[in-house]
Amino acid sequence: MGAVANTKIRKAVIPAAGWGTRFLPVTKAIPKELLPLAEKPVIQHTVEEAVNSGIESIIIVTSPGKNALETHFAPHPELESALQQKGDAALLEKVQRTARLADIKFAVQDEPRGLGHAILVTEKLIGNEPFIVLLPDDLFDAEPPLIEQMSKVYDDYGGSVLALLRVIPEDIKRYGITKPEQVAERVYRILGMVEKPAPEDAPSNLAIMGRYLLTPKIFETLHATKPGKGGEIQLTDGLALLRQQEAIYGCEFKGTYYDAGKPLGLLKTSILWGLKHPESGAELKEFLREIIKG
Ligand code: G1P
Repeated sequence: MGAVANTKIRKAVIPAAGWGTRFLPVTKAIPKELLPLAEKPVIQHTVEEAVNSGIESIIIVTSPGKNALETHFAPHPELESALQQKGDAALLEKVQRTARLADIKFAVQDEPRGLGHAILVTEKLIGNEPFIVLLPDDLFDAEPPLIEQMSKVYDDYGGSVLALLRVIPEDIKRYGITKPEQVAERVYRILGMVEKPAPEDAPSNLAIMGRYLLTPKIFETLHATKPGKGGEIQLTDGLALLRQQEAIYGCEFKGTYYDAGKPLGLLKTSILWGLKHPESGAELKEFLREIIKG
C-alpha cells in the first residue's frame, strides 16, 4: 500500500449524492457512479485510488434512492456461495474484493443542497482531523499518485490543498477557478477563488479539480456559507471563507485528468482506459484502427 508522504491522512469523503442529470435517462434507475469504466464501476476506481494512497476509512455521501451504491460495496452471500459451488474462484475474488476494499460508511444528504452541504453531512464521521475529498466524476492517472503529490504540499506548507489544472478559456465556466500566487514550482498560495465564473471574470485559468485535502476547519466555514451559484452551498465558497482564517495551497499536479462526469467524457475515458487494459488493449486498438480506416 502506498504511503501518503509524511502525513498519515486516514479518512476520505466521496460525494455521490447528485441526480446525474447529464446521464439521463440512464440515471433514472442507476446511480451515475455505478456506470462502468472498463470492468469496474466509476466509483470503484475512485475508492481504489484512495485505498492505494493509504486511506483506511471512506465515507460515501449518497441521496435517497441511491441504495445500489451500498449494495455494490456490501458482501453478497448468495452470489458468493453460488460462485463457490461453481468453482469460479476468479469471479468470487472479484465479488468479495469489492466488499473488502476499505472501511466504507454511508452518509445520506437528504436534499440536493450542493457539494459544500454534502461535505457538511460527514462532519461527525470525520471529526477533528484532515481528510481527502475525491469527486468520482474526475479521474486521474498520476505518478506519484495525486493524493501523494497533494500530501507533500501539506507537509511542506500546512493548510488545505487543492488539486489544480490549467484549463482552456471555454472550460473556465465549468470549474472553481483560483487566484493563485506561486510559491514554488507547481505550488501556489490561493488568494481567492470563484465558482464557475464567466471567462472574462476569472482570476486565472487554474481550475480546481476533484481532489481536495481539507483541514477540519472547513466544517466551521461551511456552516457559515450562504447558498451561492445555483442556489447551492458551494464547497468553493466555503473554501473562500476558510482562506480568510487559514492559508490554502494549490498543487498543479503532474498527471492526466479524465472527465467521467458526462456521456462523451465517459466514452473517451472508457476508450483510453480500455487501451491501457492488459487483456483488452491490443484488440481495442486494432478495432479502432479498423473503424477509423473504414
Ligand atoms: C465541482 C466543484 C468545482 C470543481 C469541479 C471539479 O463542480 O463545485 O469547483 O472545479 O467540481 O470537477 P461540479 O463538477 O460538481 O459541477
